[in-house]
Amino acid sequence: MTTDPVKSIPAFYAGQSIFLTGATGFLGKVFIEKVLRSCPDVREIFMLMRPKKGLSVNKRLEKILNLPLFDKLREERPSNFEKLVPISGNVSEKGLGLSAADRQMLIERVTIIIHGAASVRLNDTLKYAIFVNTRATRDICILAQSMKNIKALVYISTAFTHVNNPLIEEKAYPPIADWQKIIDMAESLDNHTLNIFTAKCLDYIPNTYIFSKNLAESVIQEYSSSLPCAIVRPSMVTSSIKEPMPGWIDNIYGPIGLYIGGGKGIIRIGCCNKNLNEDIVPVDIVIKAILVVSWKIGLTSFSADSTLFVLNCTTQKHITHQNVMRMLLSVGREIPLEGIIWTPNGRLTDNLILFYILTIFLHMLPAILIDLVLKFSGRQPMLVRLQRKLYVANCVLSHFSSHEWKFSNTNKLAVMSSIPPDNRDMFSFDYFDCDMREYIKNSIIGVKKFLLHEDMNRLDAARSHSKRVYLFVTMVETIVSIYILRMIYWWIYSFTL
Ligand SMILES: NC(=O)c1ccc[n+]([C@@H]2O[C@H](COP(=O)([O-])OP(=O)(O)OC[C@H]3O[C@@H](n4cnc5c(N)ncnc54)[C@H](OP(=O)(O)O)[C@@H]3O)[C@@H](O)[C@H]2O)c1
Repeated sequence: MTTDPVKSIPAFYAGQSIFLTGATGFLGKVFIEKVLRSCPDVREIFMLMRPKKGLSVNKRLEKILNLPLFDKLREERPSNFEKLVPISGNVSEKGLGLSAADRQMLIERVTIIIHGAASVRLNDTLKYAIFVNTRATRDICILAQSMKNIKALVYISTAFTHVNNPLIEEKAYPPIADWQKIIDMAESLDNHTLNIFTAKCLDYIPNTYIFSKNLAESVIQEYSSSLPCAIVRPSMVTSSIKEPMPGWIDNIYGPIGLYIGGGKGIIRIGCCNKNLNEDIVPVDIVIKAILVVSWKIGLTSFSADSTLFVLNCTTQKHITHQNVMRMLLSVGREIPLEGIIWTPNGRLTDNLILFYILTIFLHMLPAILIDLVLKFSGRQPMLVRLQRKLYVANCVLSHFSSHEWKFSNTNKLAVMSSIPPDNRDMFSFDYFDCDMREYIKNSIIGVKKFLLHEDMNRLDAARSHSKRVYLFVTMVETIVSIYILRMIYWWIYSFTL
């Protein structure tokens, strides 16, 4: 069976002008790569970018395009890089910080908007989170309203915006607060005053990130009566499963940071309910879902009473935290990280008292000892500082790893089944058949190669180092155990005298 070429996904994207925010981020880069490779006749992608760390937007783009992520595209369609148009902007500014000329060009040319820019730090100040995550979403909608040929606006939300519901459906929920009033409040009050109000504003929501994303969904819902909008809600996004290569990852955020800490032997206790399922979804799966949703919205005729389309992009593999950890440890023994300082062997607990006690004994005391050794040998102490950061990450993420939500997937299944058969290979976001052990193995290799810049030719050396550390740890643990047994023996013996 062949597909009507007009309805096929690459045919739909042919000639479209996409405006992408968050283009320099983890999801944004994978999106650009996928569109330029699998929808080669797209007209252009306008990328909203800000200068950063002394680099202009053009320099940043140049640096990004040199990443291994783009190797395949460089080989297959090098001329498509010319379709990328950096647009200087800053979503923390009112009106997105766009120049009048750029705004006009976007109004004239853009047909699809993918809004992914966000501050993903969970505990930003309320003011900043509202500006970047909520007000910018409103400003994107205002801009979209003036676009002459807008076909689809897809907002990248998060699966955890409605955490008070045990079952999260693929629908818009009533807002937690009036987003217009909260934006007014963030604009008119100073940071100090807002910080005092934050806990009250957040109510049951665990942090300012989720709060501001929750309000952004309400913004989209409100504008969906005048714009063809959709919301895609990914859970925790992890390395790619297949495209453009297995294991691609380039950001060290919460869970990945904790994995690296665990793999190096620095983290030995995690605050988490080990029997609950982990909700992770590979980045290429999320990007395909976004592309398919935008295709679907673009082909559907829009009217004011169209309902807002929402898709939960969550895991298809239900595995407990404990089992994920077992797989990580077992694959980690085969493919250890370089320079481990202790044998990786994490424990998970959701008992806060046990977590604090073990944090002191397994994290802080060894860190203090090692830092003292570093200090007296003339080197820079760093472990206590690092442990403090990891402790904060552990605590902030514990809300998500100590609770479980069910996600309905009716829309996801419907939209997946509407993908034309000969587009399924390239655009299906079904990964039910994936072998999780293989995925974890590729993810560890990806972390080593792309995040830690380790040379895979040094794997044997890393294995030898890991064996030496194992022998050392076994020796230390044996000595400590003998010492403790001796103490207990003397203590009992003292009563018998
Ligand atoms: N990663 C996940 O696990 C996950 C899960 C669920 C939902 N999401 C959502 O997916 C989207 C993308 O996330 P990500 O993982 O790709 O995050 P990311 O790697 O941190 O990227 C964030 C992007 O937003 C841009 N941005 C932030 N502040 C900006 C500002 N003031 N002006 C202009 N651009 C700004 C960043 O630009 P700079 O490079 O200039 O900082 C970057 O391009 C977000 O909306 C996030 O909420 C992510």
